[in-house]
Amino acid sequence: MQTYIVNSPFDMHIHFRDDNMLKVVAPLSSSTFVGGIIMPNLVPPVSTKQEVIDYKNRIMDAIKGDDFTPFMTLFFKPYTKEFLSDVKDVITAIKLYPAGITTNSEGGVESIDTVALAPTLNAMAELNIPLCVHGETNGFVMDRESEFMSVYEELAIAFPKLTIIMEHITTKDAVDLVQKYDNLYATITLQHLLITLDDVAGGMLAPHLFCKPIAKRPEDRDALVAIALSGNEKIMFGSDSAPHPKHAKEACGCAAGVFTAPIALQVLTQLFETHNSLDNLQKFVSDNACKIYNMKAKEKSVTLVKKDFSIPEYYEGHGEKVVPMYFGQTISWSIEN
Ligand code: DOR
Ligand code: ZN
Repeated sequence: MQTYIVNSPFDMHIHFRDDNMLKVVAPLSSSTFVGGIIMPNLVPPVSTKQEVIDYKNRIMDAIKGDDFTPFMTLFFKPYTKEFLSDVKDVITAIKLYPAGITTNSEGGVESIDTVALAPTLNAMAELNIPLCVHGETNGFVMDRESEFMSVYEELAIAFPKLTIIMEHITTKDAVDLVQKYDNLYATITLQHLLITLDDVAGGMLAPHLFCKPIAKRPEDRDALVAIALSGNEKIMFGSDSAPHPKHAKEACGCAAGVFTAPIALQVLTQLFETHNSLDNLQKFVSDNACKIYNMKAKEKSVTLVKKDFSIPEYYEGHGEKVVPMYFGQTISWSIEN
């Protein structure tokens, strides 16, 4: 049977949530991945050292002994250099959300003013703390990411020593921009490599494919696929796996977020195989992240086997029910137990 081994797979953008949902979803990442960047958009968002430590402890409890390292983040707001120096040993990055742009981003940055934010961003650059950015404006939904490109450029030029991660890029414009500045890098999700707006809203509305940024045009998706398959060193896998309770997705006023943690590596393997690019999957899911974040790979590998995997209708536990992308469908790669 055909197999493919991935060494030390990382998911560089995950939402684990808290409480019961954390207990359901964290093991679904930690059973496959060896580590990942954990998003801070809890209610209230993670913004003190103690909150980081406490949240990490709750994650460690939830993953029950799996060899998984949660790379913790803070929610961006103006911080002093003194504070950042103190918190540096417990965080890997800081995540900036423009206010109101997605789930639990209400306390985000109102305007990205490079002068006003300079003290914090310069301190982050000096301390080697990367800035992860949800890059969308409040404009027309299909143009939000493209409109944000000038903000990324301004940040890249004003803070050349700051590592800036363009999170979950969805457009050809972003694919072009990330290659233009040395200090820009990007994550790409699973869904944005696979779907376009047509899959979300072209037929019957598909709430489990609705996320921010919204999936775009075929040419955008193709540009994302091309750069991911190429193994380009600036590009990492970050699922943005974003669980919401089933009832909150299948609702009038559907929450934004696609839950992909339990299927991500299997579907990526299928995608890279289909495009004859399996040789570059290792770079996309591990090697590039290690270089960009200056971290070591773990001595742990995952074996994928070419064997049908029937994706469940939902995952449940602790009173929560959450629906994965491609629920009820069968894909051709599984993880070997
Ligand atoms: O669709 C999204 N959901 N995009 C984000 O950036 C946040 C996420 C969430 O937290 O649910
Ligand atoms: Zn996210």
